[in-house]
Amino acid sequence: MPQSLAGKVAVVTGASSGIGWELAKQLAADGCKVGLLARREGPLRALAAEITAAGGAAAVAVADVSDRGQLEMGVAALRAALGPVDLMVANAGVGKPTFLDPVNVADVEDMFRVNTLGVVYAFAAVMPEMLARKAGHLVAVSSLAGYRGLPGEAAYCASKAAVNVYLDGLRIHLRGTGVRVTTVCPGFVETPMTATNTFHMPGLMTAAAAARRIVRAVKAGRKVYNFPWRLHLMVKLSRWLPDGVINWMMGDYNEEAKNHFGSTPPVP
Ligand SMILES: NC(=O)c1ccc[n+]([C@@H]2O[C@H](COP(=O)([O-])OP(=O)(O)OC[C@H]3O[C@@H](n4cnc5c(N)ncnc54)[C@H](OP(=O)(O)O)[C@@H]3O)[C@@H](O)[C@H]2O)c1
Repeated sequence: MPQSLAGKVAVVTGASSGIGWELAKQLAADGCKVGLLARREGPLRALAAEITAAGGAAAVAVADVSDRGQLEMGVAALRAALGPVDLMVANAGVGKPTFLDPVNVADVEDMFRVNTLGVVYAFAAVMPEMLARKAGHLVAVSSLAGYRGLPGEAAYCASKAAVNVYLDGLRIHLRGTGVRVTTVCPGFVETPMTATNTFHMPGLMTAAAAARRIVRAVKAGRKVYNFPWRLHLMVKLSRWLPDGVINWMMGDYNEEAKNHFGSTPPVP
């Protein structure tokens, strides 16, 4: 039976843009008091104003999710403004290509800090209070990319694979505590992250449509929510494809990444 979100306190990281922005709006429309967290204050304030103008409740915290201290302080400020956190949506993320020569180590580090450690820190900031209250819901926005290492995307895929496996373990470990865990793995969504892609993105959907699906999955208490299903199936089947075919399929992407990011040719 779907859980009601009315009156719950939800924190959304990465709420200043894309999926996080739409998620926060839809959670607020469902009656949540929403804590909006990201680095850019301007868009967070604009979203908070939109939510309150529509009759909802919102508070803003400026923090970098890759900095545990900042994230803890941000969540503490949101807790003070809205109350104990019932739902933590660790959504903030960055996507950059992975190059070979030279290896863009700083980008790789950034992806693991934001995409992986950002989830660990966000959950750590609310786990003790959820365990004490014997209630709560931890949600991470991961990616279908976490199911398959792709040439030119190796680090992004790995950062999301780590999230998926981390949440699998947490979910089992938290059984019987009253704290739920949901892993969300979207396919392609129209946001600033994908805005510069010119290659075909199968199953591309708007951020609003993706957020609607995610909120439904959260309410239903889904353990893992992969969507859209056709792309999920393709990704799962791709695990059986030979490496050469995957490399050929990713050729356009790697050409484009090279042009956009000006690095050396990636996969040979
Ligand atoms: N778009 C897709 O096709 C797609 C597909 C699968 C999964 N995803 C995942 O969905 C999530 C949202 O992505 P999106 O597409 O909505 O991208 P987006 O529009 O670029 O938004 C990314 C959000 O993350 C925040 N963020 C980035 N680095 C941060 C940091 N260090 N500290 C705090 N916040 C940070 C950004 O806010 P500030 O810059 O203000 O900090 C922004 O609000 C990501 O985890 C992404 O990997 C996206």
